[in-house]
Amino acid sequence: MKNKNILIIVTGSIAAYKACEVVRLLRKEGANVQVMMSKSALEFVGKATFAALTNNEVITEIFPDTPKAGLEHIEMAMELDAIVVVPATANTICKTANGVADDVVSTTLSVCEQPTLFAPAMNFRMWQNPATMEAVEKLRKKGCMVLDPEEGQLASLHEGEGRLPKIIDIMNGIRNLFEMPLPLAGKKVLVTAGPTREAIDPVRFISNRSSGKMGYALAEKARNMGASVILISGPVSLPPIPEIEMIYVETAEEMGVSVQANCNDADHLFMVAAVADYSPVNPADQKIKRNSENKSIELKPALDILKSIKGKTKGKVIAFALETHDGESEAQRKLVEKGVDFIVLNYANEEGAGFESSTNRVTIFSKSGNQIELKKDRKDRIAQKIIEYTLNN
Ligand code: CTP
Repeated sequence: MKNKNILIIVTGSIAAYKACEVVRLLRKEGANVQVMMSKSALEFVGKATFAALTNNEVITEIFPDTPKAGLEHIEMAMELDAIVVVPATANTICKTANGVADDVVSTTLSVCEQPTLFAPAMNFRMWQNPATMEAVEKLRKKGCMVLDPEEGQLASLHEGEGRLPKIIDIMNGIRNLFEMPLPLAGKKVLVTAGPTREAIDPVRFISNRSSGKMGYALAEKARNMGASVILISGPVSLPPIPEIEMIYVETAEEMGVSVQANCNDADHLFMVAAVADYSPVNPADQKIKRNSENKSIELKPALDILKSIKGKTKGKVIAFALETHDGESEAQRKLVEKGVDFIVLNYANEEGAGFESSTNRVTIFSKSGNQIELKKDRKDRIAQKIIEYTLNN
């Protein structure tokens, strides 16, 4: 969504407050957003809320008190990349379909030819009204995208089709407007990322150099390809990714519990985390004090998360192997032993690859015996290619 100019039109429905979340996500993903509100939308959410969320003036009047020269709504129509009407009321849908232009919202919609998405929210009887249905058909024929409202409990406590579509469907709809392919729409993707920490005492732990960058890049790409993503992250210094359910864990055990709880209905599992292989048998309750003797820490094998979910998920499992030597034979061994569909091999001792680096070079091995090498590239591009390859093989 980076640098896209998006006009969000908010019309008068109780779901108007949900437009705040759409605006927030678009801004976080780099879009420039301007909000226009109908008179009745102002009854539900204050103008100041959207002004603060967009860092932009909110348009509410076709004839403002201090008019600027020229036709502002036409000027704006030229610069926009897309228009999103959220929530879209029956009134706005019917007016737009029939060319009525009697206020700032309907005038803008009648002038603009940019890709337009309507996310309807209304009483179920209004949605079923033949006039609304006809208007929806007309708009779709014209090339506008009109999402179907969700079925469920409405604000009036009636059950029916009329709830605002889910935020993920609205965001995917917007991606669709920009012709971004969504091969993972409707799919659930689970990603683990970063290191784990195994306590030695309250202030010390065993960990590794994983930065989490590869796992975070995969999670973000999967989201951009339409998936609903859960990212189970060990301690890293990366910010949370918008639109993704973030679960923060520390130990291998905690990561294992989260993976087990979320793997059942996942369609793709990218196990990118560098999970501890060993953890201290008896972590000390108090800080261990220095003395002049040698010390040793007794270690026990940590939970092997991949083994623990074997047979518990129908999804495709993509594991990672970070090696310093014998990469190919190790990758082939892990592919069989861990019972996964793919192993992505990368090297810890290669410049511009592995932990902490912003680039990577990987080879993907599949259980069908195929393998493909992805040349050194930015981790986000490598992530895109890993998803595409594992999706299609
Ligand atoms: N993994 C896991 N649980 C562990 C360790 C690793 O699920 N306790 C997963 C990693 O997320 C990765 C894959 O297993 O997807 C391979 O990790 P790796 O550390 O290379 O494998 P190990 O079995 O730990 O083998 P090694 O002896 O090389 O460390």
